[in-house]
Amino acid sequence: MTDSLTLRRPDDWHLHLRDGAMLEAVLPETARHFARAIIMPNLVPPVVTAAQAAAYRERILKALPEGMDFTPLMTLYLTEETDPEDVTAAYANGIAQAVKLYPAGATTNSASGVRDFDRVRPVLEAMAAIGMPLCVHGEVTDPEIDIFDREAVFIDRVLDPIRRATPGLRVVMEHITTAEGVAYVRANPTGLGATITTHHLVINRNHILVGGIKPHYYCLPVAKRESHRLALREAAMSGDARFFLGTDSAPHVDPLKECACGCAGCFTATNTLSILAEVFEQDVRLDRLEGFTSLHGPAFYGLPPNEARITLTKGALVAYPAKIETGAGPVTVFDPGFPLHWHVS
Ligand code: DOR
Ligand code: ZN
Repeated sequence: MTDSLTLRRPDDWHLHLRDGAMLEAVLPETARHFARAIIMPNLVPPVVTAAQAAAYRERILKALPEGMDFTPLMTLYLTEETDPEDVTAAYANGIAQAVKLYPAGATTNSASGVRDFDRVRPVLEAMAAIGMPLCVHGEVTDPEIDIFDREAVFIDRVLDPIRRATPGLRVVMEHITTAEGVAYVRANPTGLGATITTHHLVINRNHILVGGIKPHYYCLPVAKRESHRLALREAAMSGDARFFLGTDSAPHVDPLKECACGCAGCFTATNTLSILAEVFEQDVRLDRLEGFTSLHGPAFYGLPPNEARITLTKGALVAYPAKIETGAGPVTVFDPGFPLHWHVS
């Protein structure tokens, strides 16, 4: 039985750090274990320009506790006014690694996102020309479409047409939640990858709704039925390099989760690696964990994998706080619903 595992230090290819007091509190939770992360730009107001991304990067580095080694990889929030030249310069100068597409109204702070996809065509063409990845929140916002179908419909109505119209555009389907998402990646061998979150490997929609509503399991895209969770697990553990970890760890203070109209987001930074080790062990796939957490993401983004290593050791129960205290209020840590035994060092 394996009880110790050494991996290259992982990266998180989709992370929300927020700003101010929240940033200060959540950043160490990620930096403790992860070397790099793709930082989501959905602040209020959003991080749209290269100058805003550079300033946000500075605020992140300033909030990083002494002695911690962490590199934020910045993204630009795509709007219908985004200037293609600003984007290409940000990529060339190393200020931003990717652009984030939020359909307007799809999720938290997405009001400035894209309504008319034709209006961002020049930006997408410029990105395709230089190989800059587009990170996509893949849900339609059409009120007629059932929330559980919004990812699958987005693939057909929006993503596939965009990819066909923009040859060479490199796309990351962020936080996929469906068997359709997995199948679309598999059917399109070039220029397409997908991140999978920790929580979508653990919960299905029953966890949110059965036996009382569980606001801390509510996120977007919302967790789907069990067959989809199993498809995600199979993809994450398949060894296919197009699937990699993006936690989408998304802190909201408890009063904004535990209320009549709760925010979407699961905060998993604190215990993500212990959960993933447990999940891969459950499926007898610990040998595939390093690819998912530490190798496939860098390969997609054209970056070297980290040289540093972490060790996961199986032992007594892993203790983690139910909540972390932040200057903005308490944030509940994701509870996977099973005990954790894998310690990270
Ligand atoms: O659950 C989510 N939370 N999904 C998103 O797409 C956004 C995120 C957030 O920023 O809170
Ligand atoms: Zn996100």
